Amino acid sequence: MTDSPETIVRYYHHRTKHRLDGYARGPETLDWDDQPDPFRRYCGTHRVMLPLVAADLPVPFSRLTAPEPLPAHPVSLTSVAMLLEMSLALSAWKQYGTARWSLRVNPSSGNLHPTEAFVVVLGVPDLRDGLYHYAPEQHQLELRCAFPTATVRGPSLSVGFSSVHWREAWKYGERAFRYCQHDVGHAAAALSYAAATLGWRLQPQYQLGSRALGQLLGLDREADYVGAEGEHPDLLLTIRVGEDTATPALSALLDLAARGQWQGRANVLDPKHLYAWPIIDEVAAACARSDRATAAVSPPTPWHRPLQPLVTGCKDSAPALFRRRRSAQAFDSSAVMSQTDFQRCLDQLFPRPLPPWDTQPWPPRVHLALFIHRVEGLPPGLYALPRSESGLQTMQRQMRAEFHWRKMNAEADALPLYQLLPARAQRTAAKLSCLQAIAGDSCFSLAMLAEFDDTLSDHPWRYPELFWEAGAIGQVLYLEAEAAGLRGTGIGCYFDDAVHDLLGLQNSVLQSIYHFTLGVPLVDHRITTLPAYSTRRA
Ligand SMILES: Cc1cc2nc3c(=O)[nH]c(=O)nc-3n(C[C@H](O)[C@H](O)[C@H](O)COP(=O)(O)O)c2cc1C
Repeated sequence: MTDSPETIVRYYHHRTKHRLDGYARGPETLDWDDQPDPFRRYCGTHRVMLPLVAADLPVPFSRLTAPEPLPAHPVSLTSVAMLLEMSLALSAWKQYGTARWSLRVNPSSGNLHPTEAFVVVLGVPDLRDGLYHYAPEQHQLELRCAFPTATVRGPSLSVGFSSVHWREAWKYGERAFRYCQHDVGHAAAALSYAAATLGWRLQPQYQLGSRALGQLLGLDREADYVGAEGEHPDLLLTIRVGEDTATPALSALLDLAARGQWQGRANVLDPKHLYAWPIIDEVAAACARSDRATAAVSPPTPWHRPLQPLVTGCKDSAPALFRRRRSAQAFDSSAVMSQTDFQRCLDQLFPRPLPPWDTQPWPPRVHLALFIHRVEGLPPGLYALPRSESGLQTMQRQMRAEFHWRKMNAEADALPLYQLLPARAQRTAAKLSCLQAIAGDSCFSLAMLAEFDDTLSDHPWRYPELFWEAGAIGQVLYLEAEAAGLRGTGIGCYFDDAVHDLLGLQNSVLQSIYHFTLGVPLVDHRITTLPAYSTRRA
């Protein structure tokens, strides 16, 4: 008898937990001089150089949280270039001694960047109709499939994401599938912020099955990947530009791709795979969304939150802020975060018709347990921030009976922040996050608790969605931290069940799926920062 997809997903999740007495299965040795190529290229494709013009957009970051959208930019080669430059492009090169590596606008576990992006274009001036792969190294589009002359009205623009699991598995072994999903969540959220800066919104096409998405993005074209690492289809997001965008039926796009002229072959990222992690293919297959999957979810209802979030006083332009987002590698362990900044960072985590929540058209399924170390006006301790009414009830039912659930603010529309236990927990937080000092030296760190059992019994393909939601939460925190003059870091390495034990979680109703930490960064001045595209002219 074969195992059901839900059984496989549960088995994978359990097996890839880091434990205090041993990490999830991963490589025993790494050849750092022989890392996989960070850039996927489709050799033999026609390339379109994109202009580097996002810096010209005079949109303050603070404007993105206003309820009324910005005036929509027309869809053109230039605005497509801006969209990608603000979300997925290189943000800098770093150099230390002889080592040199690039960073991107979207973060990635281990800076390995397993997420690839594709753009489906119809009726966009100066761009031939077709499917393009985005190549961030040179900020180029590679034409993978030229569509036949379309009868479908344009302009229409969609962005598809896929993952090269091997890039992440090279370093992290079996746990890598989780990190790939976090990265998709970060990338989709980064795209949503960039789209909002252009006055656009995203519409996720969750009804598209994995097989159909693979066909649309050409990932099932085995002959184009001979000897090269394959890509797994994740998600398609259509761009909504005011009332004018055409949203062609997905069947029409699939028909154009089926009749189009394909070109290019994927480059080999790593010629010798020293290890194999077959469980990643198994869990990816178990999470495949059926082509007939239309399982609707009810949209989120705002909970205790006013429509207008707290607005940042940050004066920086959105493109500049996106580009300067970085992960902190160390924190000033004496710095205190202001109450205003703290409230604003957390307030942004509640779904509203604002970026990045257009990527998640479902009620929140991820809630926060916070280790507050140094925040003005809050005694250090363990806190909870449920992101929905039902989340509050679930947390209260599942967590330790001795937690006292003291609401930190009585007003009706105050943040639903609850103190569970006053305690100094810097060392505990660091220990739970794989002994990483960044979780204890920050102003606060947190564990994201997903409604695991309910989500999986609904549909196992919602397993990646939990990580996408966590990635979106992480992306908000990264950007809000920068806006407050602080810095954040996503934390994928933590001891799963040790976190659960601390919180009193004795079953899998809630599971910790991602950690994050935020504070005043200490910058390593030995590392030199170089521009992202110094060899290119705008
Ligand atoms: C899903 C995810 C997990 C991460 N886990 C860790 C971690 O456990 N420890 C850490 O120091 N950094 C972690 N990071 C930060 C990455 O190392 C960082 O994003 C990457 O090096 C790129 O640097 P940048 O964010 O400054 O662009 C994580 C980032 C992501 C997106």
